[in-house]
Amino acid sequence: MAGSIPQDFIDTVLAKVDIVEIIDPRVTLKKSGANYSACCPFHNEKTPSFSVSQTKQFYHCFGCGVNGNAISFLMEYDSMHFVDAIETLAESVGMEVPRDAAQKRNSDDIKPLYTLMASVSTFYQSQLRQSQEAIDYLKARGLSGETAKRFGIGYVPDGWDTLQQHIPGEDQALIKTGMLIKPDGGKRPYQRFRNRIMFPIKDSRGRVIGFGGRVLDKQEPKYLNSPETPLFHKGSEVYGLYEARKAAQDHGSVIVVEGYMDVVALAEHGIENVVATLGTAANEQHSQLLFKTVPTLVFCFDGDRAGRAAAWRALQATLPCLNDGRDAHFLFLPDGEDPDSVVKAGGAANFNDLMATRISIVDYLYQHLSDDIDMSSIGGKAQLAEKAKPLLKTIPAGVYKQLAMQRLEALIGLPLGPSGGVANSGNAQNSLRAGNTQRPQQKTEGGLTIMSRAVLLCLQHPEVAIQLPATSAQSINTELAGAPILLQLITGIQSDHTITTARLLERFRDTGQHPFLVKLATKSYWPDGRDLDQQTAQTEFEWCMQRLLERSQKTLRDQLDPASGKGLLGIGRR
Ligand code: CTP
Ligand code: MN
Repeated sequence: MAGSIPQDFIDTVLAKVDIVEIIDPRVTLKKSGANYSACCPFHNEKTPSFSVSQTKQFYHCFGCGVNGNAISFLMEYDSMHFVDAIETLAESVGMEVPRDAAQKRNSDDIKPLYTLMASVSTFYQSQLRQSQEAIDYLKARGLSGETAKRFGIGYVPDGWDTLQQHIPGEDQALIKTGMLIKPDGGKRPYQRFRNRIMFPIKDSRGRVIGFGGRVLDKQEPKYLNSPETPLFHKGSEVYGLYEARKAAQDHGSVIVVEGYMDVVALAEHGIENVVATLGTAANEQHSQLLFKTVPTLVFCFDGDRAGRAAAWRALQATLPCLNDGRDAHFLFLPDGEDPDSVVKAGGAANFNDLMATRISIVDYLYQHLSDDIDMSSIGGKAQLAEKAKPLLKTIPAGVYKQLAMQRLEALIGLPLGPSGGVANSGNAQNSLRAGNTQRPQQKTEGGLTIMSRAVLLCLQHPEVAIQLPATSAQSINTELAGAPILLQLITGIQSDHTITTARLLERFRDTGQHPFLVKLATKSYWPDGRDLDQQTAQTEFEWCMQRLLERSQKTLRDQLDPASGKGLLGIGRR
């Protein structure tokens, strides 16, 4: 979301503004103890539970739970966009947001290209209405005029210059958008797409950014796509998202298929929450893009070899996106079928029946990995664990990762650790387990794990990490779940001893960990809610680091070896 504004700049702005001065003119604050308080502006209340901490540069409402830094406050209270909030704050401390001149020029150049692509699309649609052959082709494929219209499907006649004749004087721009090809040697440009059914590819705002064109007969290539242009980046766009958005949000899920025709054929049969990748395997950008709209993805593949290979790539691309609350499934169609052929043969019911056979991404993961392993042998089980480990590592820390690891433990029958296993691992929001041998003197609120404790302490009392020896931080095993976050916090604190909670959190704004970190930043440490003073925080932090260092010294081999008595898998939950 930070877009082109450098993180450094945001950090400097946050270091200069005072959240109290930002909030006070909007919501009158009263000093109460170390903090300021007011009736919460975000919910109705008679007694003040909205609290602003000047030291942390952070607000938090104990009533409705809202919280954040100066940026979040402006975004929430003044309904500002992120960039506007930064601009407002920067201005208030006499700074100016650096604008990348080249970037600005670029965006000015691009605007007319969108308009041009819209005209091209309109032109292709008008050409479809005039081509009986193209209309017959679409009809034969079971497409109604209504669906064709909804997707803006068009037709480009044969010939080299239909487009230039219709849109004269725009050759340069048409070349830029990939619609015309300019041959070497000063010859005249000619149109890339000829005699094809044209599927406009839109961005999430509905602007046409490229096209896919299909031949009407058996010629090759069957499909031709727009090349990479300033508007169109094949690897990060999907087909049909604009049209699918509403249905996808209603269902909470989106079905990812392989072809243009699959998207429109399913829509024709009333299945509208469908998108397609554009002739490439689903990648992480695709999954991230789709998870912005829905919590659940269903990947649909042909059951043949190529389909299975593509599915495995989709799995690898999706694991890193599986933050809590998200989910993914895989549907394998019978060999040789695609969604288009399935609905054509038996309508939506046929497709929905198959949909019931989809499997979860975790099932698919282990199913695929154990395909060529003899799971009845000890060696086979060890092999499965070894193969699964690098993949499990890519799942963000959280419930999903825990479930995936639990499943592995069940599959390989490894005994769980002396703490009794995953069921009582406390706070399900992180995948760490508190020390097995030595319990902390006092339980924390909600049974936080050691790693979460350390992270909470860094967030709420950044000073605790100032004196930490560099060798300690370096010895923390980065495979411990949450370790990368802790190390990032420690580095941030050590490079700026005056850093605040707000500035630390800001660095995670666009990451999946942000909500969890915000929770820790506002959570009470002790079960009775009493304050955590600086001295206690320091002692607690040192205790946590000691435990984490001990844990870091254990090797994966130890943990994969049941004889060592620990029995835990070496994947993030230690
Ligand atoms: N594709 C492509 N270039 C090709 C072939 C395919 O970009 N030469 C992409 C297109 O996005 C196409 C998808 O891969 O929609 C799936 O291809 P395929 O399965 O061959 O086609 P279908 O979608 O089944 O198309 P149709 O039903 O029209 O034959
Ligand atoms: Mn097909």
